[in-house]
Amino acid sequence: MIRVGVVGAGIIATEHFKHISANERAELVAICDIAFPVAEKAAVQYGAVPYTDVREMLDRENLDALFICVPPFAHGEIEEIAARKGIHLLVEKPLGLHMEQVRRKAAIIEEAGIITSTGYCLRYMEVVQRAKQYLVGKEIGMVRAYRFGGLPPTAWWIDHSKSGGQLVEQTTHNLDLMLYLAGGVQKVYADMGLLLNQDIPEITTPDIASVNLVFESGALGHIDTGFLPQPDDRSSFEIMGRNFRLSIDGMKLTIVEPEGTMTWQGAGNFYKQQDDAFIHAVSTGDTSLIFAPYREAMRTLEVTLAANQSAESGLPVKLI
Ligand SMILES: NC(=O)c1ccc[n+]([C@@H]2O[C@H](COP(=O)([O-])OP(=O)(O)OC[C@H]3O[C@@H](n4cnc5c(N)ncnc54)[C@H](O)[C@@H]3O)[C@@H](O)[C@H]2O)c1
Repeated sequence: MIRVGVVGAGIIATEHFKHISANERAELVAICDIAFPVAEKAAVQYGAVPYTDVREMLDRENLDALFICVPPFAHGEIEEIAARKGIHLLVEKPLGLHMEQVRRKAAIIEEAGIITSTGYCLRYMEVVQRAKQYLVGKEIGMVRAYRFGGLPPTAWWIDHSKSGGQLVEQTTHNLDLMLYLAGGVQKVYADMGLLLNQDIPEITTPDIASVNLVFESGALGHIDTGFLPQPDDRSSFEIMGRNFRLSIDGMKLTIVEPEGTMTWQGAGNFYKQQDDAFIHAVSTGDTSLIFAPYREAMRTLEVTLAANQSAESGLPVKLI
């Protein structure tokens, strides 16, 4: 049995609690949240010990693995402290809001030799894995995606300095899929604006963004994102290449070729796949089922932060 702790017991932690506690190789032993009632409620439900201070939790509990589920602005030194104790990490996306800090964390993590995974859960979708296999050796010309939705219920989300904005915090999943399936990005140009939600008190983050990308292969990419006052959840993803078009809509993969069209409907819970893969890796040392280790998630963060930088400066940002 591996001993698992969770820090940050909010919305996404609730999803992880279910999968950790259902995994026969793991035991959820400690839960930390700066809000004691939040930690206590979850700890009572799962038979864990509640904490409000992550350092204390890591000193007292002999953890094998830690799920880091704090908001983007609140990572502090959690990764460094845990890594130095040899505790394996699953870190929720985005990894942080400052590239230099995240790079420093990555170096400490690598020096410690621990296993890492991150919350880029869409990579675990069956249809994404199928798309990845299909794309081996294919020539890609263009990658397009959009994601529109409403305002998430967390107070810190509308504060740009705390969330990093929608692209960094949420649409990072869609951008991460672009990188996972089409490779690295060399240039980013973005425009962003606060156009539809100005009446929300204390909002400081843009609500509309339009981002152009140039991939290392030379392929071009584009992603639009926004959160709208009216409920209107939609997302789309497609790749166009030589003699094919591939699209992913929800759990459905469509591949159009000159000879015909193929479709697959995926199934399963990708959060469970992701958490089981991490627990399997910690208990066996086999990391082959982890699809988004820390260093890869760092590249996704780099592109989203470059888009923010471009939107502020009005200039393209080169990443190589
Ligand atoms: N992978 C996904 O699909 C997915 C979905 C939702 C959220 N997330 C990510 O998970 C992270 C958390 O989001 P959320 O929606 O759960 O937020 P949330 O606000 O619901 O929960 C965060 C919790 O962390 C606690 N916290 C803050 N600082 C802390 C600290 N230093 N020590 C201990 N606890 C602390 C807060 O009190 C809060 O209870 C974000 O980075 C978000 O992007 C990922």
